Amino acid sequence: MEINNYINKFIHLDTIDSTNEFAKRFFKKLKNRTLILADEQTEGKGRFQRKWFSPKNEALYFSLILKRIRKIENLPFINLISALAIFDTIEEITGLKADLKWPNDVYINKKKLSGILIESIFKTMRLSGIIVGIGVNVNVKKFPEELCSKATSLYLELNKEVDKFLFLKFWIKNFFSYLRKIRNKDLIIKKWLENSSTIYDSPIIITIEETPAIAKTCGITSKGYLLVKKQNGSLLEITTNDFFFPD
Ligand code: BTN
Repeated sequence: MEINNYINKFIHLDTIDSTNEFAKRFFKKLKNRTLILADEQTEGKGRFQRKWFSPKNEALYFSLILKRIRKIENLPFINLISALAIFDTIEEITGLKADLKWPNDVYINKKKLSGILIESIFKTMRLSGIIVGIGVNVNVKKFPEELCSKATSLYLELNKEVDKFLFLKFWIKNFFSYLRKIRNKDLIIKKWLENSSTIYDSPIIITIEETPAIAKTCGITSKGYLLVKKQNGSLLEITTNDFFFPD
C-alpha cells in the first residue's frame, strides 16, 4: 500500500509543540492532504484544553490537513469516520476489538487508546479546511500515575510492540476509504452503533445553560450528533462540547 496515493505531502518532524499547532501555523502554505507526523510533542493537546501525553517515539501523533471539506454538516461525520478508521486499523493489525465512545474516542478494555482533536479553519465565516489531529498510544510502556487507570496502549494490551508506521498506513487507507463514502451517513452511523457500548443507555453529564444535568445516551442522530434523554423524559441532540461521560 502506497501512502502517496492518498497523501500529497508527508512531513516527519522529530519534536514539535503539537502537530495540530504546526498545521495551523502553516495552514495557508501547506497543500491539501498534507500529513504531519511527529516523534514527540512537547505541548500535545487534547479536547477540552486537556494535555495529550506524548512521550518520544512511543506513540503516533499526527495531523492531516483537509482543505476540500467545505460543508459544515460533514464535520460530525469526519469525527465519526476518523474514529472508525482507528477502530478498523486496530482490528486489522492486532485482532483486538476496540470500543467507540462518541464523538471520536477509541477504548480498549475500558481504557482510552486513542483520541482525536479536529480543528476547523474559518476564513471570513467560511470553512476553508480542517485539521484532523490523532494520537494513538501504540507502544507506550508506562503512563503517568494519574493516567494509569484511564489510558492503555497496544503494547500494554498485547505485551508486544506494534509497528506504528504500519498502523499509520492502515489508518490512512481506512480513513480515505470512509471519506469516499461520507455521503453514506447510514453506513457510518450503523457501524458506530454496532461498536460502541456507551451509545445507548449510558449516563452522561450534559450542560444546559451552564447547569450540569444527568442524562442517558440514546444513539446517534442522522446529523451525526448524540441523542440523549433527559431525566424528565425529553430528548435532546448534543452537538458540541457541552457534555462529558462520568468516569
Ligand atoms: C483527546 O482525546 O482529547 C484528543 C487528543 C488528540 C491528540 C492528538 S496527538 C496529534 C495531534 N496534536 C495534538 O496536539 N493533539 C492531537
